[in-house]
Amino acid sequence: MKVITCKDYETMSQKAADDVAQDLREKPGLVLGLATGSSPLGIYRCLADLVRQESISCSRATGFQLDEYCGLTPDHPQSFHHYLKEHLLNVTDFREEHLHGLNGTATDWKSACISYEEQISAAGGIDLLILGLGQTGHIGFNEPDNVFPVHTHRVKLEKETIRSNARFFDSPEQVPRAALTMGIGTIMGARKIILLVNGRGKAGILKDVLTGSVKPQIPASILRFHQNVTVYADEEAMSAVTEEK
Ligand code: F6R
Repeated sequence: MKVITCKDYETMSQKAADDVAQDLREKPGLVLGLATGSSPLGIYRCLADLVRQESISCSRATGFQLDEYCGLTPDHPQSFHHYLKEHLLNVTDFREEHLHGLNGTATDWKSACISYEEQISAAGGIDLLILGLGQTGHIGFNEPDNVFPVHTHRVKLEKETIRSNARFFDSPEQVPRAALTMGIGTIMGARKIILLVNGRGKAGILKDVLTGSVKPQIPASILRFHQNVTVYADEEAMSAVTEEK
């Protein structure tokens, strides 16, 4: 696992975006896995700048959403589809028909999850997956558990995750209680992974991920077994690791 410590959020976002941009130049038809939330906002902003400067193009890239809330339609302002529309599709040349989403309103969610795995396989697998780290140690919405869930599946969200994500809603009651997410196996199947972590609030969990045991109670710790992961973290997020040295 390569860890790149950056001065602040902006530097972290720029460095990670340069990494993605390089891959896009080498393979314009790159298959991306796309996280939402606060962590990747900067990377999407930087990619939009690079597209505007005609330094890269996303027009041939394909995207797979990492996860989606259950019960929200794609046009709901807090759905992850809506987020990607706002922060990627509307500001770059990424084509809407190239973005695959999980159907959070599917009643037959099991079939929706199986079909998602098939879509990823049909696209040739994920080349580059962009992840954030949850306060609980989750990646995607794979919450702490006694096992690592393998495939795309439905999860009940942890209280802490609901509390943390309430900042995007008018009230905590509005945060969906369940989500569909790529599984740990789906994530580990990506050929390359970028994990973005910023802020002092993530310092403790990032230290656990980087230096604790690899176990499903800390889902992101499994990334230590992946061949090609780069963690881009700001100094605040790295503080618990660096202060110990
Ligand atoms: C989002 C996702 C989550 C977030 C994580 C961190 O698609 O799957 O795992 O990456 O909860 O969220 P932020 O970046 O908002 O701190």
